[in-house]
Amino acid sequence: MPDSLQEKEYSKAKLIGFCAQYFSQNGQAPLAYVHSFGCQQNVSDGEKLKGQLADIGFGFTNEQTQAQLIIFNTCAVRENAEDKVFGTLGDLKHFKEQNPETIIGVCGCMAQQKHIADKIKSTYRQVDLVFGTFAYNEFYQMLWDVIANKKRVLNISESSFEISEDFKQIRDDKLRAFVPIMYGCNNFCTYCIVPYVRGRERSRKPQAVVEEVRQLISEGYKEITLLGQNVNSYSYGFAELLREIDKIQGKFRIRFMSSHPKDASRELIDTILESEKICKCLHLPVQSGCDRILKAMNRHYTKVQYLDIINYAREKCPEFSFSTDLIVGFPGETYEEFCETKELVKQVKYDNIYSFVYSRRSGTKAAEFEDNISDKQKGLWLRELLLEQREITSQWFSRYIGKTVEVLVEGEGRTGEGYLTGKNDAGVIVELEGDKKYIGEFVQVRITKAMNWALAGELVEDK
Ligand code: SAM
Ligand code: SF4
Ligand code: F3S
Repeated sequence: MPDSLQEKEYSKAKLIGFCAQYFSQNGQAPLAYVHSFGCQQNVSDGEKLKGQLADIGFGFTNEQTQAQLIIFNTCAVRENAEDKVFGTLGDLKHFKEQNPETIIGVCGCMAQQKHIADKIKSTYRQVDLVFGTFAYNEFYQMLWDVIANKKRVLNISESSFEISEDFKQIRDDKLRAFVPIMYGCNNFCTYCIVPYVRGRERSRKPQAVVEEVRQLISEGYKEITLLGQNVNSYSYGFAELLREIDKIQGKFRIRFMSSHPKDASRELIDTILESEKICKCLHLPVQSGCDRILKAMNRHYTKVQYLDIINYAREKCPEFSFSTDLIVGFPGETYEEFCETKELVKQVKYDNIYSFVYSRRSGTKAAEFEDNISDKQKGLWLRELLLEQREITSQWFSRYIGKTVEVLVEGEGRTGEGYLTGKNDAGVIVELEGDKKYIGEFVQVRITKAMNWALAGELVEDK
């Protein structure tokens, strides 16, 4: 490397030139592989990282071995998410030995934890760059330090707390877009690592959010999902924001997640029902159906309060659908308490549930709680819950039979040639026979069959 390139400060122009030179492969643009694990928030961060990379001349590949820059944007919510990343990093040791010029980076929630960043630094020498959830603004400087200054970089400081509106995004999907409205979390549920790795709540200005959605719709996006760990605590008023977005011209759907039940108000339900474009469904993570466990989780609502919001919505609109997150085997939970969760699931009749075995997260309060139930036992409880839900969905989905629902067609179906797949308003998968020309369109589908994972139907409207 020429000495002149051993410089502390980067400039974007120098970085572009240097990347082209450093990663040069027969004059081709350098390629990056960026993989995001975890939630939609992480996917959105990954899309911003790709935007920054595209701006300095990178193209993208889905093949790790084709890339000159490999970045894993990680999740820390459960231990198995972390294990997956360590496994992948281990697999890359040999590859890095053979390809020393390839840069390997780890970022996101897992990297934000000091003990993990230290472990990567000391044990996974093949990793050149480790940065947390606050360091995206410093990405170019970090990349410069790695490639031009030949440093291994570790940056998990929480210094840049401000929301940058300047990032271009390279989105993975052409139909559905994620739009964060806020970052961080203030709730400190006792099991959860998110507040520790994402910091305190910060809300984006409503004008910035509305403008981004307007732009996406003009580009042809058909479904917008607003993101936040608890959208109901959006600083500038969530219902008001929804009403503003609903006014944007065009045919599209609005979804959002997640809503914390302690803040999900009747006003929110009314806003959904009065709107034109907001899906009549709500992801309302309950976590447990037992009041003692909810208290130990620091969730700030009881089962009765939770059911009140469900009942209010269903009284006003019987077809209103709900989905939820559940944790099985929270420390100290008994089988009887777990059965209360099963009962709640039976009572609410969710269209979808996302259930997880409790995973101990070091640094959280619940990590200190006594936990006498084995993971194997918890796994059996989870199975029991899933079987219960499967039974419920088989029956519950049959309410759609004979009805006509609007489906956004997302792609070709699993059944093969001539079949399409999409989702209805409630986010339930719908399979139908139809021409590929409908991909990306809203179509009307008459439901003829209900399975325990999806619906099937026939096209009733030829556009
Ligand atoms: N902010 C959302 C809320 O409160 O509803 C949840 C976001 S969290 C990233 C997604 C889900 O992961 C949670 O709803 C919870 O069910 C699950 N989760 C979080 N921490 C967990 C843990 N330690 N073990 C198992 N599941 C966990
Ligand atoms: Fe985690 Fe609770 Fe915050 Fe959701 S609200 S991210 S579960 S601490
Ligand atoms: Fe999301 Fe996982 Fe982080 S669920 S906020 S990527 S810990």
